[in-house]
Amino acid sequence: MDGEPVIRFDDVYKRFGAQEVLRGLTFEVERGRTLAIMGASGSGKSVTLRNIIGLVSPDRGRVAVDGQVVADLKPKALAALRRRMGYVFQEGALINWLSVGENVALPLRENTDLPDAEIRARAQHKLELVRIPDSWDKLPGQISGGMKKRVGLARALVTDPEIILYDEPNAGLDPEIARSINATIRELSDSLDVTSVVVEHRIDCVRTVADEVLFLHEGRALLQAPPDEFFRSEHPRLRQFLGPEALPAR
Ligand SMILES: Nc1ncnc2c1ncn2[C@@H]1O[C@H](COP(=O)(O)OP(=O)(O)OP(=O)(O)O)[C@@H](O)[C@H]1O
Ligand SMILES: [Mg+2]
Repeated sequence: MDGEPVIRFDDVYKRFGAQEVLRGLTFEVERGRTLAIMGASGSGKSVTLRNIIGLVSPDRGRVAVDGQVVADLKPKALAALRRRMGYVFQEGALINWLSVGENVALPLRENTDLPDAEIRARAQHKLELVRIPDSWDKLPGQISGGMKKRVGLARALVTDPEIILYDEPNAGLDPEIARSINATIRELSDSLDVTSVVVEHRIDCVRTVADEVLFLHEGRALLQAPPDEFFRSEHPRLRQFLGPEALPAR
């Protein structure tokens, strides 16, 4: 199965009004691999992820998942595809009137016929995985920003998806928690043959989780390379973006 692209962007263009966000974006992610996307704020990283789950459709070019063109899928087929994916939203996107536990359990309640006890056990297990084991009964309004982020992560993982899209999973987390989340992301992709795309600004995180890094600039992939090569690149725009501390010690 190795070497087969699970996610494939082929010359994708996307504009909002007069603003051209994606301008010929091409890349692929092979099964079981983790691609990190870096790029300036507003460069189109979240838009790229939204193309993969079909919340946004390209104006030109194609986005395919497992060989299926996402924009061509009928609602049923799109729903089936989305059931195989987990999405960690940048803004958390928790439902405010549901408890933390029920937020995490929701994808299982909506998409499976599992008995309640099993759903609760699986959701609780994911809360443990993201290190908030005692938070089931809290409401989203009662927890910190970093905790919300982790609830969003637990919810994305609860169906054990084959494809996981993370939009800045570490934003707002303290370094210790961020390391444990990174380790979790790494373990998932190592042990379960999960294919992932991670939007991430932090260099240490990218180094931990990514097999390859893509730099999104002016709507295209300026560079896609394994982390060592990526962070060593002499490209002036990349050096300007990353700053001197990104250079590996010699
Ligand atoms: N639905 C939309 N309607 C209009 N403009 C949009 C829409 N979605 C995104 N944009 C614009 O497209 C550009 C790229 O947005 P996107 O959210 O992908 O940026 P990003 O790279 O994720 O940035 P950040 O690092 O700040 O999250 C932004 O200028 C944004 O305002
Ligand atoms: Mg974003």
